[in-house]
Amino acid sequence: MTSSSAIRELKEKLATTTALTVLTGAGISADSGVPTFRGAEGLWNNFRPEELASPEAFARNPHLVWEWYNWRRELLATKKPNPAHLTLVELERRVDNFWLITQNVDDLHPSAGTQRLSEIHGNIWKVRCTQCGQVTVNRDVPIAILPECSTCRGLLRPHIVWFGESLDPEDLQKSFEALRTCEVLLIIGTSGVVYPAASFGPVAKDHGAFVAELNLDPTPRSDLVDVAIQGRAKDLVPQLIS
Ligand code: OAD
Repeated sequence: MTSSSAIRELKEKLATTTALTVLTGAGISADSGVPTFRGAEGLWNNFRPEELASPEAFARNPHLVWEWYNWRRELLATKKPNPAHLTLVELERRVDNFWLITQNVDDLHPSAGTQRLSEIHGNIWKVRCTQCGQVTVNRDVPIAILPECSTCRGLLRPHIVWFGESLDPEDLQKSFEALRTCEVLLIIGTSGVVYPAASFGPVAKDHGAFVAELNLDPTPRSDLVDVAIQGRAKDLVPQLIS
């Protein structure tokens, strides 16, 4: 199937569906200038996740971990949603049962205007107290190192799901409900190697959904979906409603 006939088929499905779920990864924000994690320019080529994005790393050296998050906060503070994020806002407006599941912590979906979403890996502008567990929004750039909880003076950590940590059970429940009940699942810009998000396509497919992957390159999951379309998210996604 050519990419234009795949886009046409997907566009027709989207024009009539009443239940759409979308799963996004770092690739949708790449067109906003946010680095991805894997691939030639990926963050994990230059940084070691086990030294920066794990509870053990934070226990060992919270200063280093906060410095890295400060670097990312400075970078993300300058980034804006791109046409792919904005198109998903329009799809949310058009489709009755819409749910967006994002692995991105960059806040670009909410800042575009998406309302019905689960940020399953957290949000870079939220912090959580390691003592009392309170989650608050903190947009300081840079954030003071080491930041303290205003309620109990405990050490604050990023409200991000790190390697080795579990996802929030409510987010998981909502995500699986959206995967089991959707007619169409759009998977945009994720390498599909990090679980549980890597299992989301098969879950929706097992429940009868039409599954489409939009990615710059083929992924290990491309053969398992109904249509796999290659290109930049900012170019492909707007074509789905034009
Ligand atoms: P990855 O960096 O693993 O994958 C990004 C995907 O986006 C790749 O498949 C690219 O081909 C694709 N891509 C790049 N540019 C694109 C563009 N302009 N348009 C469309 N696709 C493009 O990112 P994720 O799959 O999101 O976890 O990574 C999953 C998780 O691993 C992240 O949430 C992060 C990381 O460790 C946490 O931070 C907890």
